[in-house]
Amino acid sequence: PLDSPQQVGQWAAHYIVDSINRFAPTQERPFILGCPTGSSPLNTYRELVRLYQAGRISFKHVITFNMDEYVGLPADHPQSYRHFMFENFFDHVDIQFENINLLNGNAKDLEQECQDYEEKIRQHGKINLFMGGVGIDGHIAFNEPGSSLASRTRIKTLTRETREANARFFDSIDEVPHMALTVGVGTVLDAEEVLVLVDGGHKAQALQAAVEGCVNHLWTISAMQLHPKCMMVCDAPARDEL
Ligand code: GLP
Repeated sequence: PLDSPQQVGQWAAHYIVDSINRFAPTQERPFILGCPTGSSPLNTYRELVRLYQAGRISFKHVITFNMDEYVGLPADHPQSYRHFMFENFFDHVDIQFENINLLNGNAKDLEQECQDYEEKIRQHGKINLFMGGVGIDGHIAFNEPGSSLASRTRIKTLTRETREANARFFDSIDEVPHMALTVGVGTVLDAEEVLVLVDGGHKAQALQAAVEGCVNHLWTISAMQLHPKCMMVCDAPARDEL
């Protein structure tokens, strides 16, 4: 059993590395990885970087699609998800810049940006492995409670709860953007495989709703029950309500 967030991250990173190596990606047949941000994947990225440095994995033929991005934060803002990804992962591995896909929360036409992103994913066929986290209120990516379970990439208004939960990364809640671009629940469900990282007692209720509750749009993570190959990787406190 996995007890700590570190163990969750190590397990997930090894699973991802094994999946990529088994697939043996080439330029013609790249591995497509969906990437989350937030605290949950930090240990996973750290371990992925370590495994890269140890020569156990190359990301040369890995293409990434990130889940979401705030609207209106400058790209180099320390809390933009773009910045997070370069700081915690991309800058430390051999991924090719042109293989990195991130939503642009400063695009002139945000709706077009979302449609183009969805189209780009479609052009690549399926995302092989979509890694995700979960919000305290059970959201996946930024699919806030009430999101359609068939949703695609689009603009979402963030709930007060989400802004409060994410305020810890900013100087004050007033600085947390009100809107974000996010892949839809349907986009995540289209992936060949989904791996959700859940750690901490504050996620126990969300995990319970995800796996023991009924599928419903108030806990959008519960839609993962519909996926034929979705795995929740959890530490001990997160499992408290099961
Ligand atoms: C944010 C992100 C989600 C993330 C969730 C949980 O709202 N948009 O993708 O899964 O928060 O974050 P954390 O891992 O920091 O608890």
